[in-house]
Amino acid sequence: MFNLTPTVVSREQVTPVHVRLRLSAPEIALAALPGQFLHLRVSAACDPLLRRPFSIMLTEPATGLIDLLVQVVGRGSEAVAAAMPGQSFDIIGPLGHGFPLAPSGSQVFLVAGGVGVAPLIGLAEALAEAPGEREIFSLFGARTESLLCCWLELAERCVEFTAVTEDGSIGETGLVSEALARRLQAPFPGKRVIYACGPMPMLTAIAAIGREADVETYVSLERWMGCGVGACLGCVVPAAAPSVERYLRVCKDGPVFPATALDWEAMPR
Ligand SMILES: Cc1cc2nc3c(=O)[nH]c(=O)nc-3n(C[C@H](O)[C@H](O)[C@H](O)COP(=O)(O)OP(=O)(O)OC[C@H]3O[C@@H](n4cnc5c(N)ncnc54)[C@H](O)[C@@H]3O)c2cc1C
Ligand code: FES
Repeated sequence: MFNLTPTVVSREQVTPVHVRLRLSAPEIALAALPGQFLHLRVSAACDPLLRRPFSIMLTEPATGLIDLLVQVVGRGSEAVAAAMPGQSFDIIGPLGHGFPLAPSGSQVFLVAGGVGVAPLIGLAEALAEAPGEREIFSLFGARTESLLCCWLELAERCVEFTAVTEDGSIGETGLVSEALARRLQAPFPGKRVIYACGPMPMLTAIAAIGREADVETYVSLERWMGCGVGACLGCVVPAAAPSVERYLRVCKDGPVFPATALDWEAMPR
């Protein structure tokens, strides 16, 4: 884990509410695993006081560049998204546990909801570059077409990409979890793995689909965070029984968990 002050190299407004930031952070680019995150100090002043967590979307070890995808939802993310080239952020990271890579020969489903696409793009890259062969399918859900941020970055790393919009403005109409359930109906003789990141109702549905289909499923959770390093217990989620721990810390034990490790009935929405 590093405490660094990387500089913003470029900023791209991807949709009306999503900004892609490229930062020069050679140590992070070399060390980060797909699914890990950075904890960013969003203001040099005391307000907002707490750091905000953002997934590392892509890394380029050769150039030392890393990409973040930021959705503006409040003051912290607004400050990050407003950063211009030349501006620096105080960051700690890479933090948390990333995604375990599916073995060669597997069929893989990457299921993204909204800005949850960010860690799955890095995962798609790692899976495509890992030794062996995997069939990588991706499904990306959003309310409407204009919110499908950075979909090309996901699509170009997969054998098949499906957009799913609730209003039917592009791709399949409905929920991305329903689209996943339809894909899983086609039989496959080998191992299948699901990876998902997005809003909690979507993850709850996907955990149930994975359980019913008996497919290994990993979810990356987004919870409110304080310290980001396991000390404050501000990010805990209920663990599935039987587990030694009653609660798991998203920052330290996650953010990626096997879906079976969590108690979805008791999960705060
Ligand atoms: C491991 C992890 C990785 C993340 N990766 C990304 C990413 O790549 N890109 C991105 O845009 N966002 C990501 N997030 C979410 C991001 O951290 C929050 O959107 C951000 O902290 C909100 O701060 P704010 O000051 O803008 O909003 P606030 O003013 O703090 O909150 C505004 C609204 O957003 C809700 N909110 C705040 N924090 C979260 C959160 N962590 N999860 C869900 N809802 C929240 C609040 O309840 C409130 O309704 C990630 C979160 C985690 C835990
Ligand atoms: S944010 Fe402090 S324990 Fe996770």
